[in-house]
Amino acid sequence: MFDPVTLGALALRNRIVMSPMTRSRAGAGDVPTQLHAEYYRQRATAGLIVTEGIQPSPAGKGYCRTPGLYSAAQTEGWRRVAAAVHGEGGLVVAQLMHCGRVASRVNKNDGSDVVAPSAIRADGKIFTDVSGPVAMEMPRALHTHEVRFVVEEYRQAALNARAAGMDGVELHASSGYLPMQFLSSNTNMRTDRYGGSVENRIRFVMETLQAMGEAIGFDRVGMRVCPGLDYNDIDDANPAETYGLLLQEASALGLAYLHLVRRSFPLVDNFTLTKAHWRGRLILNNELTPKSAAAAIADSSADAASFGRHFIANPDLVYRIRQEVALSDYDRARVYTQGPQGYTDYKPANPA
Ligand SMILES: Cc1cc2nc3c(=O)[nH]c(=O)nc-3n(C[C@H](O)[C@H](O)[C@H](O)COP(=O)(O)O)c2cc1C
Repeated sequence: MFDPVTLGALALRNRIVMSPMTRSRAGAGDVPTQLHAEYYRQRATAGLIVTEGIQPSPAGKGYCRTPGLYSAAQTEGWRRVAAAVHGEGGLVVAQLMHCGRVASRVNKNDGSDVVAPSAIRADGKIFTDVSGPVAMEMPRALHTHEVRFVVEEYRQAALNARAAGMDGVELHASSGYLPMQFLSSNTNMRTDRYGGSVENRIRFVMETLQAMGEAIGFDRVGMRVCPGLDYNDIDDANPAETYGLLLQEASALGLAYLHLVRRSFPLVDNFTLTKAHWRGRLILNNELTPKSAAAAIADSSADAASFGRHFIANPDLVYRIRQEVALSDYDRARVYTQGPQGYTDYKPANPA
């Protein structure tokens, strides 16, 4: 875990990656603040930080207080984050998260549409500051001619990430958000070139990766998937087929890495599937311990290992793993609250 590794253009000093985590602390205009810079600076001894999910456009926002990467002020905010992480010798990529139908209009600042591949409501509730949990909204199906505008939003956000000095981007294609809504058979009823056959259902993701890669270099673009996941009312009839083809086609692009949330489902063991179809660097995630992560890297199951929850209360996770210092537990009540409490006030084990 402490050996360097190269993921495309990203030269990591160790193989411990900070997994993307939404923390709902964006300021006015969905701008990352000085607090974000401090939070990520504290965790910058990771070989690579993947930021919280960031909306590439106002329509991409689903939750409250998530940051964006489309306005000049947001880009400036991320510039402070990148500078803080680089100042500690770390690397940071922006996770681009378009929530699609997993959204409430209440959480959007400008009243922009809730859009999705098809007009099928996600069964479930989403938290809002104004009214607490509310039912997710019936989305409007994107017109065929609009899809390329959404792809363009991702392309521009990738360019903004680089303009902000960030090292790359990660396409969030998991957790039931827009890319996964295109991929999955229960959320994509389209009859145009973006729906129906598996070739058509993967098209949106492929076009988005293509657009971002052409803009900033494929070796600075990663993708996160969890084939088989049913979160946010996803139910793909054949995830092995869907992701088998997606991973084959994406392998040919020469991306920096694939970030796999490893899980086994009745329809698919997604690690076995990934090993069969993905050719490229692999970051492995999900419920890893220092021990299981080290084992995964040692036996070549993965090139790097990502930790989510452990990074919340252990900003110096790399030091603690190396020194075998006990890991602290995080304050569940303050994960999505505002301000520094439960965010930047976790102390390193060795303050020096
Ligand atoms: C508070 C919190 C927020 C999360 N937000 C995101 C997110 O924005 N994007 C994403 O891809 N995954 C998100 N995840 C999932 C984590 O990246 C990770 O996959 C998950 O926590 C499992 O890893 P772990 O067992 O090391 O925590 C989030 C998880 C937590 C706990």
